[in-house]
Amino acid sequence: MDKIQVVYWSQGGNTQAMAEAIGRGIEEAGKEAEVVFVSDASIDALKEANVFALGCPAMGAEVLEENEMEPFVCDVEAFASGKTIALFGSYGWGDGQWMRDWVDRMVAAGANVLNGEGLMAHEAPDDDAISDCVALGNQLASA
Ligand SMILES: Cc1cc2nc3c(=O)[nH]c(=O)nc-3n(C[C@H](O)[C@H](O)[C@H](O)COP(=O)(O)O)c2cc1C
Repeated sequence: MDKIQVVYWSQGGNTQAMAEAIGRGIEEAGKEAEVVFVSDASIDALKEANVFALGCPAMGAEVLEENEMEPFVCDVEAFASGKTIALFGSYGWGDGQWMRDWVDRMVAAGANVLNGEGLMAHEAPDDDAISDCVALGNQLASA
């Protein structure tokens, strides 16, 4: 079984902490995880995978980070149909619009977004948010 890819972008480390907890959840559940910053990620590995996770904080004005994550997500949209994708990220002052838009976008591309919604943490994930990330990793391992 191939590793489950957890691909993220993070500037301040909050979304990275979520990604690492998701990776721990995957491994706790008995699968291998590859937690990678988007610039090191393999688009081919995602093409071949049925299940993976993508993470990005709210940036700009309720959008994905535009230089690396946005083009990567555009590439993923082209082959997302039928795949199970977990979305996650941290946010600050907004109300989660970036994540709702991201979910809608992946659903429109034909993906099955795990739980029908993205997992969000307000700024640095607290213990509850980290537990939710570990649980999401468990789910990915059995999806
Ligand atoms: C340039 C910039 C733009 C941001 N835009 C938003 C935004 O539109 N909505 C929001 O809720 N938070 C916004 N934030 C706050 C970040 O989403 C928040 O601090 C998050 O925890 C950063 O995650 P990271 O540590 O993984 O980089 C922005 C932060 C920066 C630096």
